[in-house]
Amino acid sequence: MQAARIMEFIGVAEKAAIASAEWNGKGDKVSADQAATTAMRDAFNDIDFSGRIVIGEGERDEAPMLYIGEELGRGGEGIDIAVDPLEGTNLCAYNKANALCTIAVAPRGSLLFAPDTYMWKIAAGPECVGKIDIEATPAENIKAVAEALGKSVNDVNVCVLDRERHADLIQACRDAGARVRLIDDGDVFGAIATAVPNTGIDLYMGAGGAPEGVLACTGLKAIGGMFMGKLAFDIDPHGVEKRARAEKTAKVDLDAPLTMDMLVRSDDAAFIASGVTDGEMVSGVSKADGSITTETVVMNALDRTVRFIRTCHRGEKGLVRF
Ligand code: FBP
Repeated sequence: MQAARIMEFIGVAEKAAIASAEWNGKGDKVSADQAATTAMRDAFNDIDFSGRIVIGEGERDEAPMLYIGEELGRGGEGIDIAVDPLEGTNLCAYNKANALCTIAVAPRGSLLFAPDTYMWKIAAGPECVGKIDIEATPAENIKAVAEALGKSVNDVNVCVLDRERHADLIQACRDAGARVRLIDDGDVFGAIATAVPNTGIDLYMGAGGAPEGVLACTGLKAIGGMFMGKLAFDIDPHGVEKRARAEKTAKVDLDAPLTMDMLVRSDDAAFIASGVTDGEMVSGVSKADGSITTETVVMNALDRTVRFIRTCHRGEKGLVRF
């Protein structure tokens, strides 16, 4: 996506991060999420474009803002938007690392309308493209990553969400000889971190939100990384109803492995994430001398770039300090 357009979306993510960071550590994930959602929606509506939410806060009847299908902007170029206004609501509420405000943008019709259910995911950096597979065993994937990265299996770090449903997966990773890094929340970060050298994460595996899968896939696709998913209605308490709803609208086989090109059908997509709490990819919102600083990462497929943008905003006293 063109850099000038991207700048507008960076502003959207930054505003959401500033709004939700007011709730860092306050133990109130609902208010933190609401603050991010309201700020994001207001900011999108200030842009000259015809935005359409394909992944957002839920169906129209359950989400007042950024619901699936909501049209945003003042008119213009048609762009599809996937958002998780605050990815890691608990991370923000308890001031833990890697809470992010996330946006994926792509030309109309190119992002999968992922049902709001679970997805099994596997992700790794560019060296592992074509070498891992969601249908392979954890041991096979770990071995493939070790070979691709030129390291021993013993040095492969696998990131997994700390959930009961992953007990077998975690054991299988350890039995294969790998190390497991458990995260409390935030698997958009977990998946993308496989392509971010200083995180030490080589492979991401496990089941998390399907919408988060599309967001992570956009980032990894933009930078030439690897992602595959498979919808998992069976581990969702409301999976039966969600599957029935998805069957009416699905543009993909609900039981098949989903490749990057099925999830993001464009080479002109971009992923944008602003830090809310401090993290390994971007710093969180900070305030000093009455001025506010944000940090945002942009992964843009158009020019295969990763940009880190540190922005100093006017604070309450109207000052910008940097
Ligand atoms: P929220 O931002 O909605 O709190 O989601 C955080 C998250 O950890 C996601 O990153 C992940 O995909 C999903 O929740 C996992 O869902 P669950 O907590 O039900 O296992």
